[in-house]
Amino acid sequence: MTESSQRRRRQFSPRRWPSCRKTATLAAVLALLGPLAACQHEAGTGPSLMLTGQPADGPVTAKRHMIVADHPLAAEAGREILRSGGTAVDAAIAAQMVLTLVEPQSSGIGGGGFLMHFAARTGAVDTYDGREAAPKSAHPYMFLDGIGKPMAGAGVGGLPVGVPGLLRMLELAHKEHGRLKWRELFQPAIKLARDGFPISKRLARQIASAEGLRNSPVAGSYFFDNDGVPKPAGAVLRNRDLAETLAAVAESGADAFHEGAIAEAVARAVGSAPHNPARMTIDDLKAYQAKKRPPLCLPYRMWLVCGFGPPSSGGVATLQILGILQGFDLAALGPESSRAVHLISEAGALAFADREVYVADPDFVPVPADGLLDPQYLALRASQITGAKAGGRRQPGMPGAGAALHPPHATAEAGTSTAHLSVVDADGNAVALTASINRPFGSRLMVRGFLLNDELTDFSFTPNADGAPVANRAGPGKRPRSSMAPTLVFDGRGRVVMAIGSPGGPRIIGYVTKALIAALDWRLDIRQAVAYPNFVNRNGALEIEKDTSLARMVPALKAMGHEVLPISGVSGLNGILVTKDALEGATDPRREGVALGD
Ligand code: GLY
Repeated sequence: MTESSQRRRRQFSPRRWPSCRKTATLAAVLALLGPLAACQHEAGTGPSLMLTGQPADGPVTAKRHMIVADHPLAAEAGREILRSGGTAVDAAIAAQMVLTLVEPQSSGIGGGGFLMHFAARTGAVDTYDGREAAPKSAHPYMFLDGIGKPMAGAGVGGLPVGVPGLLRMLELAHKEHGRLKWRELFQPAIKLARDGFPISKRLARQIASAEGLRNSPVAGSYFFDNDGVPKPAGAVLRNRDLAETLAAVAESGADAFHEGAIAEAVARAVGSAPHNPARMTIDDLKAYQAKKRPPLCLPYRMWLVCGFGPPSSGGVATLQILGILQGFDLAALGPESSRAVHLISEAGALAFADREVYVADPDFVPVPADGLLDPQYLALRASQITGAKAGGRRQPGMPGAGAALHPPHATAEAGTSTAHLSVVDADGNAVALTASINRPFGSRLMVRGFLLNDELTDFSFTPNADGAPVANRAGPGKRPRSSMAPTLVFDGRGRVVMAIGSPGGPRIIGYVTKALIAALDWRLDIRQAVAYPNFVNRNGALEIEKDTSLARMVPALKAMGHEVLPISGVSGLNGILVTKDALEGATDPRREGVALGD
């Protein structure tokens, strides 16, 4: 990406979109793509997503503010902050600290995340990258065994631990968009950590099924009793070590984590891990910087959809899928249509083909994000889709003359961990925050009350293929490619209409796209959009959530040539829709979250 295009993106505000006069070229290109062009709605006549007559069991509604998070205690902490006059960022920080405690298997201060922020006053969209970075000791061959094969069991112990970035990222976002004092935001989590919280059913299930957790020195005694029996749902967990860690960060900021005793403890835990000990130094922790990245935005029908760019592939792929589908009338097909599922699946395969070769940490590899989202390129990709015949495995496209084609790196594993939360505050500011320690319980290493991530396993284990370096190979200081896709949607006046995201490894891309299409094209309410059965094509089989209503489409999809694979599809979509009259929130029925507002 050139410097000037980076600058253009940094200054991006959805308020300056769409101006049909100023974006004549864009409008002309979009007109080629289909009947629904971006400038269809003049400023001032922005679309209304309002559905009248919500069913009694419809979304949670609120007038002032709302938070949707993966655990009731986290959402409650966020709502209290909103009630105290806190901003969306303030509430997100408080909720995320509680998630570190009560949903430790998914996300926390030992990991990283991506945060998207919309400032209602200025109309600016800011995107904060708190993705873990590889320590200086990392190298492209770190995940190969003694005979040059990808290592087995690399996700446990010191080797997969990336330098955590969550706190530095939240601190940066708080400096720019917080209102309450930093230290106040930690008090709900500190109190809960001291007083204890009941283990949820989901946490209990995951404790019982996590390989390598029982034998982990600190985590074993926290999650299991003295006889090695997993602690059950309802048992009260107290975490005084985490209370102390959070108190230190509350007083001294993220430096308390990245320097001094906590940093030393992290480095020691990585170096002395019983499995895969590795080298992470205090300098690695000290050097970590959260980064502001340019947001990726694409007009989709009458909306503008903004996602997170590289090092996440989430925004690029989600926007590519939408852009490819721009010329297909999904609204007319509707949610019961196997043809719609076919089209979305085909667009997914094309986007994943590009993702495999082009997306990695942009500070190390030139990522042709502009080209991948160019409407003409997307129209070309769309022309490869036929209405009723599956195209099979797709090849990557050529999104511009300078795009460097790397050998493919698909992520095979589709995790069920990670957590997403969405917030809209009383001023109309919005946050979409996806945070992760990667697989459930991350590296299994617990230090000072929190779990360390195993995020470096998101790098390609194979550094070279076909005689060329893989874009997403490991390297010192590099951030592994992610699929996290926190997303904000805007209307024709630049007002935020939706905040959403999900956990789920590479399937996140499919989960988020499905929810966006369900809400924007099919006009399902947010609860229905989130609950709609999951399906995704990661450039292979068409994965369909088993035991859902999609089963009845399987014969038709197979007749189109799709290989259909049933999956468990545990998304964790937490979304808010901003309608004309209310905030409407929904949490994913597949998890334990809740939407709370006033
Ligand atoms: N660790 C999940 C992701 O970054 O996509």
